[in-house]
Amino acid sequence: MNFQRHRRLRKSASMRSLVRETHLHVSDFIYPLFFVEGENVKKEVPSMPGVYHLSLDLLQEEVKEIESLGIQSIIVFGVPAEKDECGSSAYDHNGIVQKAISQIKEVAPSLTVIADTCLCQFTDHGHCGVIENGEVLNDETLTLLAKTAVSQAKAGADIIAPSNMMDGFVAAIRQGLDEAGFYDVPIMSYAVKYASSFYGPFRDAAHSTPQFGDRKTYQMDPANRLEALREAESDVAEGADFLMVKPALSYLDILRELKDRYPLPLVAYNVSGEYSMIKAAAINGWVDEKSIVLEKLISMKRAGADLIITYFAKDAARWLNEK
Ligand code: PBG
Repeated sequence: MNFQRHRRLRKSASMRSLVRETHLHVSDFIYPLFFVEGENVKKEVPSMPGVYHLSLDLLQEEVKEIESLGIQSIIVFGVPAEKDECGSSAYDHNGIVQKAISQIKEVAPSLTVIADTCLCQFTDHGHCGVIENGEVLNDETLTLLAKTAVSQAKAGADIIAPSNMMDGFVAAIRQGLDEAGFYDVPIMSYAVKYASSFYGPFRDAAHSTPQFGDRKTYQMDPANRLEALREAESDVAEGADFLMVKPALSYLDILRELKDRYPLPLVAYNVSGEYSMIKAAAINGWVDEKSIVLEKLISMKRAGADLIITYFAKDAARWLNEK
């Protein structure tokens, strides 16, 4: 009989571990944090059990816990007290994100702090840019984004991560950073960001639901693959240092394509809806949380991700550390 005995390599745990092709490390994870104004605030986001709005006086404790788990990088989001038409608290030197970043750098200088660079949490209309006659203006928005990035770099951000999907955002931010002397601050571009329903819980968390319309004129159509390649191509040409695909789970094919094409570190954003679905099922006892989370994280790495932004980072770190 002539057939292949694939099961030879699955015979025991040690044999399986010998031939395992993909590994998860705590250093792969980037943990998102949401900061708010006020004091002694630790408020759970209702649609994201285990994810909190934190005030800055509780920052130190949180950051120390993250460090003690071995997590090396975080991405910072802010929910400002005041919003206006052009999102001015996004680039205020005294804004919530800027304050959070500088405090984190004080208490944990070796933690890599990534700043999400967008306007939607800071505009009263919830869109990611300047609005005129119901439209999001591209080039006018770029100026504000560059300003936001520079203020975040001044606060001490180690990486700028623009997520707003205007055309030319990498070029505009690179120029802004360079002119301000931050030529060594890298850009982690949300290069391929789909107009996804999986962001629903995040918009609860960040209070950033658009007040009219949707984001389909700037975020991508989930049906498109070639468009993802064009988006990535232009961000690489504009000087991106990292590429990101978002969401992760429904877009593993896109992760693989970018990994095969571009020699840049690739990031998967395991988004809020992907988190909440698993949490809900786990709370109901319908799935085994630990094994399902580790399986989905490894599938993102197998698809080509080098790094994963995930709300499961702390849980996954605990599970990996216990092995
Ligand atoms: C800001 C931003 C969003 C997310 C990250 N940055 C929301 C959006 O585009 O609506 C979503 C993250 C998540 O769902 O976990 N533009």
